Parts: sequence; structure tokens; C-alpha cells
Amino acid sequence: MAIVFKGASAIVTGGASGIGQSIARALAARGARVLIADIDTAGAEAEAAALRAKGCEAVAETVDVADAGAVEQLVAGVARRWGRIDFLFNNAGIIYVGELLDMDEAAWQRCVDINLWGVINGVRAAYPRMVRQRSGCIVNTASIAGLGPSPGFTIYAAAKHAVVGLSRSLRGEARKYGVQLNVLCPGFVDTPMVRNATFANLDGAAAATNLRRRGGFAEPDKVAADLMQGIERDTPVIVTPATARLAMAILRYAPFTGELFAGKFMEAIRGFRIRK
Ligand SMILES: NC(=O)c1ccc[n+]([C@@H]2O[C@H](COP(=O)([O-])OP(=O)(O)OC[C@H]3O[C@@H](n4cnc5c(N)ncnc54)[C@H](O)[C@@H]3O)[C@@H](O)[C@H]2O)c1
Repeated sequence: MAIVFKGASAIVTGGASGIGQSIARALAARGARVLIADIDTAGAEAEAAALRAKGCEAVAETVDVADAGAVEQLVAGVARRWGRIDFLFNNAGIIYVGELLDMDEAAWQRCVDINLWGVINGVRAAYPRMVRQRSGCIVNTASIAGLGPSPGFTIYAAAKHAVVGLSRSLRGEARKYGVQLNVLCPGFVDTPMVRNATFANLDGAAAATNLRRRGGFAEPDKVAADLMQGIERDTPVIVTPATARLAMAILRYAPFTGELFAGKFMEAIRGFRIRK
């Protein structure tokens, strides 16, 4: 499918912050019409207003991606407003950090509802419309936690692995209809996500500081720029930044070394448990 951003209609879920905000800005800079969909109404409206102030066409809508009916209405609204839906970025996400032993059913439910069902709801709303149009592009944000073991983030990793599986499999079905599927798998990115994480039985502030001290956090604008290039090249799984590609190469070619690093990371997180 030939990728044309100029004049295209795009939805970015989780577009009020972090990677989604950078994706929305990158799309707007390329001339796309952007709908910023987020559970954070004020943040989404502020971002849309900032884009409009730069002369871009942007609107905001409040949506909880875990609500299938709301996501269907969101996509239907864009199709009505702009005549078609060219891009859907299923990007909204949250993270739970800690040992699985410390996670309750509510953690499983909310983490999977947003990170996996949020993507499923987006795909179910947009994909049939794109098939009817015989064009469109769906980009799902997973993570390198969707490509390899991520102790300390087990529920998140389970959801993100499912997002990768969904994206790569549907890609093979969608090609026949002129619809493109890509999945974004970033390493650590400098966004409010870690700060806003739910820490289960952990001293969250200390764990977050420890995570940040490890460094290697990519800038969200760099992730969005790599993503735009990956979409244009139709790269199936877009892994960024380079340190994330290195980590994935280690896991693939030296899996035990990769597991050793992951295990050390888990031990560091365990050090912040409140009830031992
Ligand atoms: N930051 C990282 O290190 C990192 C790494 C890999 C993957 N990711 C993924 O990137 C995506 C974006 O994360 P980010 O780092 O930009 O985080 P962020 O916290 O900066 O942004 C997430 C956005 O999603 C919105 N959101 C949360 N729940 C929602 C819901 N139910 N419905 C609609 N919107 C909702 C938030 O309000 C926020 O604006 C997520 O899917 C995340 O899992 C992040």
C-alpha cells in the first residue's frame, strides 16, 4: 500500500501524552488530519489545540479504549467527519510493575483490558471499514516486552505478546484487501508511563528512580520518527531505539545471556518489595 500522510485521516489513542503525543505531532507535521483519543480529556484537548495553533487539522475526543462501544463510536465518527479512516494507531497503554505473586485479579483485568482489549476494540472497529475502503493502515503499539521475557512486568508482557501475535497474523490476512498492519515495539522511552505505573507491593518511587537510573530511555519524538519511517517501508515489527534492537538480538542469538539480564532486572525490582 502506498503510504500518503498528507490529507489522510488518523486516530491516535493515548495521543495526549508520551509516544502517542509524538505520533500525533509527526502525523500533523506530515499534513494528516488527526483525532487525539484519550481517557485524559484535558490533555487530549490541549494537544489538539496546540496542533491547531500550528495550522494543523486536529480534534480531541475522550475515550476509554477498554470500552468496545466507545471505540466503535470513535471510529464511526471519524469515518463520518472525514469520509474515511486511513490510519489507526492503537497506542494507549498502562503498565503494572511487580512480582506476579503480588498482582490481584483487578490488575490482570485492567492491564489486559487496556493493553490488549484496547487494541482488539480498535481493530474490530477500523479493520472492516478499511477492508471496505480497500486501503488503510493499523499500527499497534506493543513493546519489546511483547517480544521476549519481561519478569517484573508479566501481565503487561502477556498482553503485549498477544498484541504482537494479533498484528503479525492479521497483517497476513489484510494484505489481500490493501490494508497494512505494523506493530511498534519500543524499548524504554522517556514518557510519564513509568511515573504513572501501578507498582504492586513495591516502593514505587524508589523502583521508578532505579529504573530511570539504568538510562537508555529513548526520546518519544525519535520513536515516532522511526515509526513513520517503518510505516513507509512497511516494516512488520518496528523495534526502536538501537539499544532495543541489540537487546532483541541478544535474546535471539544468546537466549541464556538475555535471560540472565532479565533475571538481574527482576532481582533489582524485588529489592523494592514492601512486604517481603
Ligand atoms: N514508555 C515506555 O517505556 C514504553 C515502552 C514500550 C512500549 N510502550 C507503550 O507505548 C504506549 C504509549 O505509552 P507512553 O509511554 O507514551 O505512556 P504515557 O503514559 O505517556 O501515555 C499513555 C497515554 O494513554 C492514555 N490512556 C491510558 N489508559 C487509557 C484508556 N483506557 N483509554 C484511552 N487512553 C488511555 C493516557 O491517558 C496517556 O495519555 C503504551 O502502549 C505503552 O505500553 C511504552
